[in-house]
Amino acid sequence: MKTYHVITVFPEMIHAITDTGVIGQAQKAEKIKIKTYNPRAVTTDVHKTIDDRPFGGGDGMLMLAEPLALTLSSIFQSGFQTGPVIYLSPQGAIFDDKKAQEIAKLDSVTLICGRYGGVDQRFLNQHVDEEISIGDYVLSGGEIGAAAIIDASARFVPGVLGHHESASNDSITSGLLEAPQFTRPREWQGASVPEVLLSGNHAHIEEWKLFMGVLKTLQKRPEALKISRFEIKKMKKFEQFVLELSEQEREVLDLSKADFERIQQGIKKW
Ligand SMILES: C[S@@+](CC[C@H](N)C(=O)[O-])C[C@H]1O[C@@H](n2cnc3c(N)ncnc32)[C@H](O)[C@@H]1O
Repeated sequence: MKTYHVITVFPEMIHAITDTGVIGQAQKAEKIKIKTYNPRAVTTDVHKTIDDRPFGGGDGMLMLAEPLALTLSSIFQSGFQTGPVIYLSPQGAIFDDKKAQEIAKLDSVTLICGRYGGVDQRFLNQHVDEEISIGDYVLSGGEIGAAAIIDASARFVPGVLGHHESASNDSITSGLLEAPQFTRPREWQGASVPEVLLSGNHAHIEEWKLFMGVLKTLQKRPEALKISRFEIKKMKKFEQFVLELSEQEREVLDLSKADFERIQQGIKKW
């Protein structure tokens, strides 16, 4: 079973996020295992020391190399493989969907959550395979990043999502943003559900979702569009769809006149 090992001084933070919802159910169904290890557990001094002042001065404390190394060894000693060792760090490569899919394929992976001012460089050099950041900002610890990596990657582990859901249809993963979605009631505060979605014509609905997804991507995240230009060209109907966009569809997308003109210009260049 795919196992995530998380080394953290705050295991309860990891469990608070991963023991609920889809990821919590996946653990109960034994599709994935999430194990946490507190480096304080391997310390032998009365204060259970895991940090100390940095040599050369500087703000705050640093996590000691030894308790982290001993904790890593304890994973092997309990009969598990660590898999690649990833340190959550603002200095790492930015986490994305591609990386989540790569991590999903591993049998095991170990996530190291830093705290305080970070971790002694010697531990990183000797034990860490990769550093991953969850964005260009600094968090006070790696736990939120570790939980994000577990959540995003576990969705790709077979059996984690129910058979009605598929990670491959979601925004970004599919190469498109997902089309706008609606549920009951049909009318809400003066806004109605687009007629096509109530038509029962599945081919038409699928085409509408695809075209609205392409439009939404061009509007909000053009760089995330992964349909090749060739494929877009093949979608002759798309240009017509944009030209014939109803007032309601423009409203649904919150498409400004400028967005609309920019998208039309873009289509002409394909
Ligand atoms: C306050 S930060 C330390 C930052 C460190 N002094 C530096 O400048 O690189 C404490 C811990 O939070 C985690 N962290 C902070 N920002 C992060 C980010 N953007 N992505 C992932 N982990 C992060 C890291 O594990 C880090 O060791």
